[in-house]
Amino acid sequence: MIISNNNKKYLNLEKKHLKYETKNMTPNIRIKWKKAYDYKIVDSENKKYIDFTSGVFTSSIGYNNNHLKKIIKEAMDKGFNHSYHYYNEYREKYVSKLIKFINSPKLKKCFLTSAGTEATETAIKLARIYGSSINKNKLGIITIKGNWHGRTMGSQMLAGKNEASKWIGFFDKNIYQIDFPYPWHKNSYNKSFFHNSLKKTFKKKF
Ligand SMILES: Cc1ncc(COP(=O)(O)O)c(C=O)c1O
Repeated sequence: MIISNNNKKYLNLEKKHLKYETKNMTPNIRIKWKKAYDYKIVDSENKKYIDFTSGVFTSSIGYNNNHLKKIIKEAMDKGFNHSYHYYNEYREKYVSKLIKFINSPKLKKCFLTSAGTEATETAIKLARIYGSSINKNKLGIITIKGNWHGRTMGSQMLAGKNEASKWIGFFDKNIYQIDFPYPWHKNSYNKSFFHNSLKKTFKKKF
């Protein structure tokens, strides 16, 4: 989405907003929500939009979900918060349903986090702990070029050396990046594309 344009009204709104929030989190200043339901947003000028950002944080659950509102209200009324220190009926139900839903003989446990980037950091940690338990030098992690994994340090390293990860100041030499068969790469959806990506990154044949 284009955030800045030359329209004075929006430039002024953006300026006002940037007084309190950092530039990297600037929202689409042209759409100020009035209300939202299902997958639709209505802005302060009563324009309707279909929200294609679903997937960020919890937005994939849809807006104004009556079932969810009922459960959240019920939990709030009982004084619950989401701290992981405490066991409660909602947590108990959620984790058992989640594992049943995943239905995998290998994925039998979950680790609840509050953001995608925290989940990514956990994946890095797990991969490293598992790899080094086999061989202490087995530290390599392969990621895919052009991806986004979140705003924390490990996640930004997985996204590769780019503008967003410059601030880190160093790069973990055990994190590798390979090409991905995005639709704009011609004839890329095959094994040889994958093998060539590995060859390019690791400078050896696969
Ligand atoms: C593919 C992907 N991974 C990870 C994240 C990070 O999630 P969060 O913003 O909840 O930390 C995002 C967020 O946009 C994402 O799109």
